Amino acid sequence: MNAPALLRWTASLTLGLLLIAPESMAQPEGFNYDESKVPDYSLPDPLLAEDGSKVTSADEWRLSRRPEVLRLFEDYVYGKTPIGRPEGMRWEVFESSEGAIGGLARRKQVRIFFSEDDNGPRMDLLLYTPSNAEGPVPTFLGLNFRGNHTVFPDPAIRLPEGGDDSVRGERRGRWPVDTIVSNGYGLATIWYHDIDPDVKDQWSDGVHPLAYAEGQSEPGSGEWGSIGAWAWGLSRALDYLETDDHVDGSRVIVMGHSRLGKTSLWSGAQDERFALVISNDSGCGGAALSRRRFGETVERINTSFPHWFTDRFKRFNGNEDELPVDQHMLISLIAPRPVLVCSAEEDLWADPRGEYLSAKHASPVYELLGTDGMASREMPGLNELISSTIGYHLRPGGHDVTDRDWEVFIEFANRHLGRSNSQ
Ligand code: GCU
Repeated sequence: MNAPALLRWTASLTLGLLLIAPESMAQPEGFNYDESKVPDYSLPDPLLAEDGSKVTSADEWRLSRRPEVLRLFEDYVYGKTPIGRPEGMRWEVFESSEGAIGGLARRKQVRIFFSEDDNGPRMDLLLYTPSNAEGPVPTFLGLNFRGNHTVFPDPAIRLPEGGDDSVRGERRGRWPVDTIVSNGYGLATIWYHDIDPDVKDQWSDGVHPLAYAEGQSEPGSGEWGSIGAWAWGLSRALDYLETDDHVDGSRVIVMGHSRLGKTSLWSGAQDERFALVISNDSGCGGAALSRRRFGETVERINTSFPHWFTDRFKRFNGNEDELPVDQHMLISLIAPRPVLVCSAEEDLWADPRGEYLSAKHASPVYELLGTDGMASREMPGLNELISSTIGYHLRPGGHDVTDRDWEVFIEFANRHLGRSNSQ
């Protein structure tokens, strides 16, 4: 790396780490954590079209109301994703092995170039699939926060440019690869920074420039922010996974935690190839209802992380009731595919009840499309998995991804993707 590139990289990493820090933060003061102080609010009806007519058939939803709701999220929340799969996109499997993780897994590392330019934006995908699988397997796809080398202490995982070997495997607790492959699933992961570094106001790096017109240097009004870019990267990862012989491309589960849980929902909402969607502790701008103003608020998220959403989302700072959507409508865009919303009891910043309610209020759309929707009318107790097509789980403890979360992800995936729970 040359000196300016190294400087840029160090600056973006430092800033990035500053921004990542809240990931494990306790509840900031000055916000509402008291259920009795949740204001009265009324939610927009996902089945009430903009022209005032009520949607009463699956076809009307698919052909007219769904595109309308999708557009509202593009226009006012995440921004429009201006590009699909770039023409020059290509990949190279740069490493593979049959005997990873003590013989349990096959490992593959794939560099996905988003353009014909070798020095243009690109991402490295790390894939583990069970060695003993006879055919292609359902696969979890999730972005990671700190680099592929942090998800498992596997010395063969390539370090990102300038990456630090001493943190190899430090996020193992969040990525129980051995359990995942032993249960018959693959795991594909990418460092989210590869797609777009998580840095305020730096629109010159990551994938945004791929969509710039001549002379443009930042996304236009109503265009994608960082969540949009990360979600786009997940779709490009799926483009690759659909071609991998060891992966069942029709059973890819997009999952994410926290800001990356917001991302998995937006990705699953836009890209109907994802068979199942999981958000973990995704909170404000993810599964939680904005109108409740419990824990993190729209104003706060737009102030701390102005680059995550489209500029127009800021119009709703302190003005949530004017939003033409709320987050239950994001979940409804995933219908009729299974979706699992997971919360943690102590993670009040992410508003567990607001996440449950959002899942519940997406149910009318799921029911219209012929599924059971959300089976539980009341918020379930701790550790009680609701495994209807809209699933929900509340785990004891704080903002994190734990073995218990993975147990629940796998149980839910087994139920909905046709694997038996005894496997
Ligand atoms: C902050 C932010 C949350 C986000 C979290 C994370 O806490 O306020 O909205 O989910 O960071 O992604 O780590």
